[in-house]
Amino acid sequence: MAFLSSRSRYAINVIQEEDEVAGRLMRSGKEVMRMNRGDPPAYFPAPAYFIDAYIKALKERKVYYSSPAGVPELREAISRRYERLYGVKSTGEDVIVTNGVSEALLFLNSALINDGDSAVIFKPYYTQYLPDLEFYGGKAAVCDYEEDRGWEVDIDAVERSIKRSVSKDRKPKYMLITNPNNPTGTVLDKKTLSEIVEIAKNYRIFLVSDEIYDEITYNGAKFTSVSQVAKGVPHMILNGASKGYDSTGIRIGYAFVPGDDAASLSIKNEFLNLARVRLSANTPAQYAFAEAISNKNAHDRAISQMRSAIEKRVNLAAKLINESKYMDTVKPKGAFYLLPKLHMDCLKIKDDKEFVDKLLKEEDVWLTRGSGFGADNHARIVALAPEAIITQAMEKIEKFCRRHSKGA
Ligand SMILES: Cc1ncc(COP(=O)(O)O)c(C=O)c1O
Repeated sequence: MAFLSSRSRYAINVIQEEDEVAGRLMRSGKEVMRMNRGDPPAYFPAPAYFIDAYIKALKERKVYYSSPAGVPELREAISRRYERLYGVKSTGEDVIVTNGVSEALLFLNSALINDGDSAVIFKPYYTQYLPDLEFYGGKAAVCDYEEDRGWEVDIDAVERSIKRSVSKDRKPKYMLITNPNNPTGTVLDKKTLSEIVEIAKNYRIFLVSDEIYDEITYNGAKFTSVSQVAKGVPHMILNGASKGYDSTGIRIGYAFVPGDDAASLSIKNEFLNLARVRLSANTPAQYAFAEAISNKNAHDRAISQMRSAIEKRVNLAAKLINESKYMDTVKPKGAFYLLPKLHMDCLKIKDDKEFVDKLLKEEDVWLTRGSGFGADNHARIVALAPEAIITQAMEKIEKFCRRHSKGA
């Protein structure tokens, strides 16, 4: 009998699968260019008002367990945020605070997924969606972002695909969209979003929108929250401190469920049960995040600076990628990732896994393989580093491709 559970095979994170190789290189004195992890505070110092509020909470000894669903100050601040930004009325009771969106995703699957159940996921997807779902015995019913449409969705194809996964006695438990999307940078426009909401409504599938990059859009894109267009349709918004509030290591996320329909009430209640099981999210961090959300002026200043720096970095990376004959990319409109297609026919390299592994070992540039996001023969590049570093990394990638090109 195996010691580890069969479920343990789903405890994987593709973004960190080269950890050992990178660790070895760094210990040997190499300076590894880490373009694998979407970690804004590694490049944009976390805002002082957030840090000061954390220190204040610590000094006030707020290090006890919080109430499982979160401290009222934070739950209310989040509810007010949705009224301020998106005109959505709610109360603090509609918010369950989690240890990052990562924990909310585990809650989601734990709450809804039985062995053999399915959930709709849009591909390319954020890496953790699939193993999290499979860990709970679920399987994905996949819809596509289409690369030749600039990573947009074809809504008729989405509906056809959902129709196929619905039968008389079975249908997907939830439909999960990511807007803006990691890794494609797609920002769904209001019309497309409304059509997705309509599909969720018609097929009675619980809609979940991971909006962790909601304040990081650019290149003319306008963000619409599902909470604005799904009134009356059961839905949940996932978000947190990691990206827009530039504080990944604070580990605070939340599920916002503003509806009072039966599905929303039932999942809210189950999230509360699950929150009780793990006792509490990080208490001082919750007070700090409440302050960060409430300090609108300071936040607006910080996010607008970060957004315009990211826009420049992403656009520079896109330009350099598209100048290469070894890859091409769609220009993102949100988040801070690029997902170039590797021209494997020009390269003496088997696949994207070998590409990122060799690139790291030979050039000290650390990317993530696209197949981990459901995009074979692509690579994901995080464009948070300053422009000089992005340029340097792209030069190394180009040199690497030339060395491994079929003509070489
Ligand atoms: C789409 C998406 N959802 C969730 C997460 C994880 O968020 P958190 O740091 O809140 O756990 C990430 C992190 O990169 C992400 O890109």
